[in-house]
Amino acid sequence: MRAIVVYESHWGNTAAIARAIAEGIGTDARALSTAEAPGAAMADADLIVAGAPLLGFTLPTEQMLKTIGVSETKAPTPPDLSHPSMRAWLDALPKGNGRAASFETRIWWSPGSAAKTILGKLERATCSESSTPKL
Ligand SMILES: Cc1cc2nc3c(=O)[nH]c(=O)nc-3n(C[C@H](O)[C@H](O)[C@H](O)COP(=O)(O)O)c2cc1C
Repeated sequence: MRAIVVYESHWGNTAAIARAIAEGIGTDARALSTAEAPGAAMADADLIVAGAPLLGFTLPTEQMLKTIGVSETKAPTPPDLSHPSMRAWLDALPKGNGRAASFETRIWWSPGSAAKTILGKLERATCSESSTPKL
């Protein structure tokens, strides 16, 4: 089974979870940032797992990423904004026939869901069967 775990991550948490999920799926699975996983390479994937952080109660928008690029530069660790947003990545995803799952990282009490938004977009783009497991 060709499984790809794709992530958007600005401070490394979502990347770490993506790597753990790929490791759990098995040796055929790879964790890749949105920059490392061009849509064309996804067309024949059997399973796409996509994840992103919840920022401002939602899957990060382009506007939000511009804002954190300015407002968080003085944070102890500035955000990594070098890869495309999950939204942009999903919009460029070609049609496929694999399965899909999504995940998000977040603080525990917050309302909103990035994972549900990702899954909806994955279903429209590509997948016949999908799920958002509770992590
Ligand atoms: C600017 C900013 C906004 C955030 N907004 C939310 C939020 O609305 N809800 C939430 O649960 N977590 C929020 N978080 C926490 C992040 O979702 C969490 O730290 C996430 O793991 C970051 O992922 P990353 O390290 O992969 O970038 C926010 C964090 C930042 C820096």
